[in-house]
Amino acid sequence: MWILGIGAVVVVVLIVVVGGGSAPQDPMTGSSEFGIAVQDPVLVAEGDVLYQANCAACHGSDLRGTGIGPSHLSILYNPDHHGDGAFALAALNGVRSHHWDFGDMAPVPGLSQDDMDRIVAFVREIQRIEGFEPYPPG
Ligand code: HEC
Repeated sequence: MWILGIGAVVVVVLIVVVGGGSAPQDPMTGSSEFGIAVQDPVLVAEGDVLYQANCAACHGSDLRGTGIGPSHLSILYNPDHHGDGAFALAALNGVRSHHWDFGDMAPVPGLSQDDMDRIVAFVREIQRIEGFEPYPPG
């Protein structure tokens, strides 16, 4: 009988340990918001350079926007709402103004798909670390 008793205690402890708490917040992987994965640091570093050269003039070197372009840390640009493909499309075709009053974004020529993968890795990494700003901005 005492074995059954111990078994019950073990089961209860397991339920508390495994089922307890809400979304995991792993200190090694940072924010779990939108489940953004830790990005490859090599891609991030290369994407940083490309972003600074091609995007930062409007979107800001820290991604937080400028007087002529929106912040990529806006909650609008979370991966569920603007997937990785939206970034390549924006560079390829430009963007018709629809979320902000900055006007249209012109296409940014000369970027390969590899370049865009690097830019997206950089943006996702900063989003993961910094989290998102509300929309409309507060
Ligand atoms: C000349 C200024 C300018 C540059 C340079 C620029 N953007 Fe933009 N971008 C904008 C503006 C303005 C908008 C907002 C359009 C709107 O109102 O929704 C925008 C919107 C976007 C969006 C949202 C697209 C959508 O579907 O709503 C993405 C993604 C984006 N830009 C990515 C980039 C990337 C990546 C680069 C660099 C390769 C870049 N932009 C360079 C001005 C710029």
